[in-house]
Amino acid sequence: MSGLDQIVKKLTEDTMLADDELAAILETNECDNTLAEAADGKRREIYGTDVYIRGLIEFTNHCKNNCYYCGIRRDNAQLSRYRLSGGEILSCCDTGYELGFRTFVMQGGEDPFYDDDEMCKIIHTIKDKYPDCALTLSIGEKSYKSYKMYFDAGADRYLLRHETADSGHYRQLHPQSMSLENRKECLMNLKSIGFQTGSGFMVGSPYQKTEYLIDDLRFLRELEPEMIGIGPYITHQNTPFKDFKSGSLELTLRLISIIRLMFPYALIPATTALGSIAPNGRELGLKAGANVVMPNLSPVTVRKQYSLYDNKICTGEEAAECRGCLENRVKNAGFQIVVARGDVKKCSVTLT
Ligand code: 5AD
Ligand code: FES
Repeated sequence: MSGLDQIVKKLTEDTMLADDELAAILETNECDNTLAEAADGKRREIYGTDVYIRGLIEFTNHCKNNCYYCGIRRDNAQLSRYRLSGGEILSCCDTGYELGFRTFVMQGGEDPFYDDDEMCKIIHTIKDKYPDCALTLSIGEKSYKSYKMYFDAGADRYLLRHETADSGHYRQLHPQSMSLENRKECLMNLKSIGFQTGSGFMVGSPYQKTEYLIDDLRFLRELEPEMIGIGPYITHQNTPFKDFKSGSLELTLRLISIIRLMFPYALIPATTALGSIAPNGRELGLKAGANVVMPNLSPVTVRKQYSLYDNKICTGEEAAECRGCLENRVKNAGFQIVVARGDVKKCSVTLT
């Protein structure tokens, strides 16, 4: 057995590696197939061939932040901004429920228009009508008090990517007004309140190095999130990062496999960004160890305006079209979509 194969075997058995071993498998494509096979095996052991779907409702593209990589940043004056009303959001859920979605994800920029009372009102309305569904929020950094209010109103899960676990790199990706420290505190608060918590990062973001990726993996090990979302960084023309290259398909797939092996129980999406850099990106993501897809339920009239990055897929398709399209894609990749909330299967082993 080659040295690299031995490292993959060790990762599969121990769910952990030393820094130099992680660096070795991150920096070569030689073990990508072995990694993907091992990750696929691990996912099958725990989740079988089930794939969970999450209906994504991009309800506002207003954002008070100015992240250098993001197309809906405050200073992008080219973007026409929109907000969905509570009624419009609920009608996305109605469509989604009919299509078999049992998780709704409300995602938006950091938009103070939706204050805590407004958010709680919307959360209550959705949970009253669909008590059998999970509700996930992805609306950025808020106070402990706000998170607690959302949780008490009935929200079940929260997605907040840490983006990078290196504070210097965090500074290179975000303006002074934001900090890694605050991001981490938000994540710890979400966990302690009882949310099923998701974190993650972009692959191939400007200035990223292997050592930062190792920090990302170590930070995730500390946090132990139920959900881990990663996708390639994709350049957006109206951002300060317009001249940087997008991240690669290969490295993203490699990291999905490594993350599956490190976190056998995690819910890992094959993201829209992955599907946007390669036509079969999401299928490859599933084969590399992912077990979630998050098709869009937002009204087609606003989809193009939720432009986090250039050339985002599915901006012209209706919810039902994406649902049907994904049904086939998932099936052709050797898996099946299930109608279920798709909660995390709790970890019964102690991770090292
Ligand atoms: N490319 C890829 N992903 C991006 N995100 C924001 N901007 C981009 C981009 N240009 C991701 C961030 C954020 C999530 C909602 O979208 O990681 O957390
Ligand atoms: Fe939207 Fe394929 S998932 S068109």
